[in-house]
Amino acid sequence: MESAPILELRVTRAEPAAHGIQLFELRDPAGARLPGFEPGAHIAIDLPGGPTRTYSLCNDPAETDRYVIAVKRDTAGRGGSVRLVDEVQAGHTLRVQAPRNQFALVPAPAYVFVAGGIGITPILSMIRHLVATGGPPFHLYYLTRTPTMAAFLQELSDPAIAPHVTLHHDEGDPDLAFDLWPVFETPSRAHMYCCGPRPLMTAVRDMTGHWPSSALHFEDFGTGLAAPRAEDVPFPVRLARSGAMFEVAVGTTILEAMRAHGATVPSSCESGTCGTCRTRVIAGDPDHRDLVLTPAERNFNMMVCVSRARSLLVLDA
Ligand code: FES
Repeated sequence: MESAPILELRVTRAEPAAHGIQLFELRDPAGARLPGFEPGAHIAIDLPGGPTRTYSLCNDPAETDRYVIAVKRDTAGRGGSVRLVDEVQAGHTLRVQAPRNQFALVPAPAYVFVAGGIGITPILSMIRHLVATGGPPFHLYYLTRTPTMAAFLQELSDPAIAPHVTLHHDEGDPDLAFDLWPVFETPSRAHMYCCGPRPLMTAVRDMTGHWPSSALHFEDFGTGLAAPRAEDVPFPVRLARSGAMFEVAVGTTILEAMRAHGATVPSSCESGTCGTCRTRVIAGDPDHRDLVLTPAERNFNMMVCVSRARSLLVLDA
């Protein structure tokens, strides 16, 4: 992926948006207009100490003077969100990559949004855009553990939005989980956008297997589809067209290994959600970790940015 232009932006607000969630507002220090963005876009921020992390924009894309993000302080994560929440305050300056969008709101007659926890951020931007532009009808299912962990409740109680929102809190009890099956049982012409924890996205993926795949959109949002797992092992890959043979180490993706051995593979999200890196499997037993392919498609394809294997894979590349 090409890197986006770098901006030096001032933090003009840093304040709690919900329990464990901090809202940040970023503006140009001289008040200059910012590069525009579309609903669903994200920015990448260089954090204190060096790591770069991406965060979805949650303000109205019509706003050209600020970016707004909301960050969950995730103590189980890689430390980026803790640094941002604990160390960055109003008045600080951050290096920010201009917005990119891998979760674009495509034209559709209606939309179903499913947001889990902090996954509300890109969807809030979409909803603000739809309301501001008089767009097609939508309904949001916003699922959090408790009411205090739900961000933007005031915005969602706006009379223009509230009738189109279902809020549900499960208190962390699987028996109290919201039943989305009635929502997805009968496919409609709506497009579905889901962003949240990996178990929620996997459950929605499983419930929508009979929907057209072009109508389904998932945002990984750092939930770790590509993250190494304890059960990962190295495995060999052979590229049938070039004849290249190599091992994919733990911590390396097939996509990275293919490129290192001369293969040209298009990619975009590199998180198993966009479908760009689909590669045909000639032989082998992939460990599918994407949110794109249907069970039928998985018979002959895999997404090489996230999926792995435990034995030899032969790919059509
Ligand atoms: Fe998006 Fe692999 S690059 S699914």
